[in-house]
Amino acid sequence: MKTPLIVANWKANKTVEEAEEWLTTIQNSEFRIQNSTEVVVCAPYVDLLVLKEQFSILNSQFSIHLGAQDISQFEDGAYTGEITGRMLKDLVEYVIIGHSERRKYFQETDDILKAKVEKALKFGLKPIYCLSETEMMIPQGVEIVAYEPLSAIGSGNPDSPENADLVAGKIKEKQTAKVLYGGSVKPANTQAFVQMENIDGLLIGGASLKAGDFLEIIKNAV
Ligand code: PGA
Repeated sequence: MKTPLIVANWKANKTVEEAEEWLTTIQNSEFRIQNSTEVVVCAPYVDLLVLKEQFSILNSQFSIHLGAQDISQFEDGAYTGEITGRMLKDLVEYVIIGHSERRKYFQETDDILKAKVEKALKFGLKPIYCLSETEMMIPQGVEIVAYEPLSAIGSGNPDSPENADLVAGKIKEKQTAKVLYGGSVKPANTQAFVQMENIDGLLIGGASLKAGDFLEIIKNAV
């Protein structure tokens, strides 16, 4: 049986206080996240420290890991506003790289994304590399790819599980990697995606913001 990798992408949402409230709901739920799923929360930078502290307290009850949503292509230095791999390495295990919103709003090119993957790997972080089409470049060393069709992100119109499976299969022909599906994943369609042969997990935006919905997704993925 596969262990689905369930990744929350909070995007630019949640103050520290809101992140703590989310965690309290998870903590107070009857449901315990166990090793049958690997759960990762990719939170805004400002929330990471408090989540890390809380997760380490919860770790005996839960199996939750932490991720960032981006990483600098540079190392420490005169790069105002940047967060580097060295800063992240003791905070998180995973980092999302190449999300379509970064490509669209921040003009991240293949060269920038390649540099970001190199930095992540150098500092021992696991890149979750996003792409929307099979033809897109996948940098060397990436072991987790997230397939997110543009029309499915935040739209309420997910890809069909059959097509997502087909695409995941094509990605696996190019690269030895786990493939996640992302785009309008909800509690109700979780099972249909995770039961597909080539889909190893999910990347969840909107539905991860409410702790209750996110827990439902985890339950349905097991
Ligand atoms: P969504 O976002 O679940 O809100 O569609 C997914 C993503 O952009 O990672």
